[in-house]
Amino acid sequence: MYAYDTFDRNIIDARVAEFRDQVERRMKGELTEEEFRPLRLMNGLYLQLHAYMLRVAVPYGTMSSKQMHRLADIATKYDKGYGHFTTRQNIQYNWPKLVETPDILTELAEVEMHAHQTSGNCIRNTTTDQFAGATRDEVEDPRPYAELIRQWSTFHPEFSFLPRKFKIAITGAGQDRAAVKWHDIGLILRKNDAGETGFEVIVGGGMGRTPVIGKTIREFLPEADLLSYLEAILRVYNEQGRRDNKYKARIKILVEALGAEEYARLTEAEWQKIKDQHIDVPAEEVARIKAFFTPPPLPVLSDDVPAVDEFANQNFIFKTWLDNNTNPHKVLGHVNVTISLKPHDGIPGDATDEQMHLVADLAEKYSQSEIRVSHEQNLILPHVAKQDLVEIWKILDANGLGSANVGLLTDMIVCPGMDYCALANARSIPIGQAIADRFDDIRRLQDIGPLKLKISGCINSCGHHHAGHIGILGVDRRGEENYQISLGGSGAEDATKAALLGPGFDEHGIVDAVEKVVAVYLGEREEGEEFLATYRRIGAAPFKEAVYDAD
Ligand code: HEM
Ligand code: SF4
Repeated sequence: MYAYDTFDRNIIDARVAEFRDQVERRMKGELTEEEFRPLRLMNGLYLQLHAYMLRVAVPYGTMSSKQMHRLADIATKYDKGYGHFTTRQNIQYNWPKLVETPDILTELAEVEMHAHQTSGNCIRNTTTDQFAGATRDEVEDPRPYAELIRQWSTFHPEFSFLPRKFKIAITGAGQDRAAVKWHDIGLILRKNDAGETGFEVIVGGGMGRTPVIGKTIREFLPEADLLSYLEAILRVYNEQGRRDNKYKARIKILVEALGAEEYARLTEAEWQKIKDQHIDVPAEEVARIKAFFTPPPLPVLSDDVPAVDEFANQNFIFKTWLDNNTNPHKVLGHVNVTISLKPHDGIPGDATDEQMHLVADLAEKYSQSEIRVSHEQNLILPHVAKQDLVEIWKILDANGLGSANVGLLTDMIVCPGMDYCALANARSIPIGQAIADRFDDIRRLQDIGPLKLKISGCINSCGHHHAGHIGILGVDRRGEENYQISLGGSGAEDATKAALLGPGFDEHGIVDAVEKVVAVYLGEREEGEEFLATYRRIGAAPFKEAVYDAD
């Protein structure tokens, strides 16, 4: 894991001290809320429906057990005993008191964590594959590059007042688990024919009210040019991005207006001007950062562990958990374990302080003291020996963390909606829970197979509904909550935008609609075919008919 040097430490400590002073001035009334707002946003502090909300970054989704213990302690001490893991590898605290927020930031800084650039019109926390550095299907670990981007973008003076927020995601794996095509900039690590490392560069993706899938503007950017090229992309956006209308100020709108080819041309032209200005760090610095991400020294073990298979044969739930919640590791005999934060009746992404401590303890004992956060709002133990799986599952199961539903319909992304969010049009959490209730039988879920359901409480799309195999959007219809259903979205390497099926439903009708959609799939699927493939093969019509014409 990356460890702070004196520069990192000084920056973070100075920033906390500055914020402490700003909060004191606000408390004394020397700053109005209007004056204070941009200052708090620079430190991840929002004002929500019921209280302040603090968003803390987990850079590239990687943290140590020590950091997780600290997140748990903060939940106990300053919140109501829980935190919410989000789709952009952050954790949100929903109930901090303003006067205590500088103390929270101090406690975070002690374990090398921060809330910089988790809000506001800046380059946000760069996200990546939750299995980075540990998965078998990877060209290279993307995290050193994410760290490089973090250092380059944090407080970058030219990009402190961008037209809007700016999100970068990077993956090194064949399977895209970071939704890179849905980001302002998406980077995919590639090797060229000569075996050199570089990036495919995708720009102009994003959700919100205008969902757009990013477009490739460069097939192969050499590794050494990463920062100068990103700087060129950002400069074009900073200069030409619209500032007259915040809904049209994202890079996706500019890329759509200019065309991807023209955007690429402008970027290349800008890049020619700046690429020799020493923006790119020297190879030694890249090597220094890479050294922090050296894989842990895991022993090569056998991939066959009969004791685990035997237990799986006797225990259906464990077998299902094994199938759904583990992923092959680079080192034989090991797996990545995904801990579902979608238990029955739970709130997707929420973890209590006790659960956070428990996961941290498990990481210490079984996973090299390392934990990951996924964009699907789950936690991961990335370096687990297969022989420990039965023991780990028993502990998780006894503590409400044994749900075997990763990748299945109840492993949903759900935004906070009207329960917390000041922008919401409708509730999301209770809708997610009602659907989970209807589909609470793991055997049925397992039969339905991989299905990504995603719910947002308003057009801002924090719940990724545009990328849902089934997407649900809460809207306000003359003062009533109404839920629209769309089908066929994907956030993976085959990214697609979900298409609206038809008119919306009330909170009960939407649950029935999901059930009807699933029934059509079960009736139409071919041997081994997953939901998305069936939808793509047969199109929307049979679903529409079942949902709207049946009665
Ligand atoms: C309750 C506090 C929250 C507020 C006020 C908020 C606000 C917003 C707004 C205004 C947008 C619109 C972006 C745009 O169209 O440009 C947005 C997008 C988004 N938010 Fe949130 N959000 C909140 C919580 C969350 C949570 C909990 C998550 C993750 C579970 C999340 C993840 C996202 C993502 C992924 C997008 C889409 C970004 C894009 O592609 O443009 N947000 N949020
Ligand atoms: S999608 Fe809307 S309701 Fe949900 S968290 Fe985002 S802004 Fe709030």
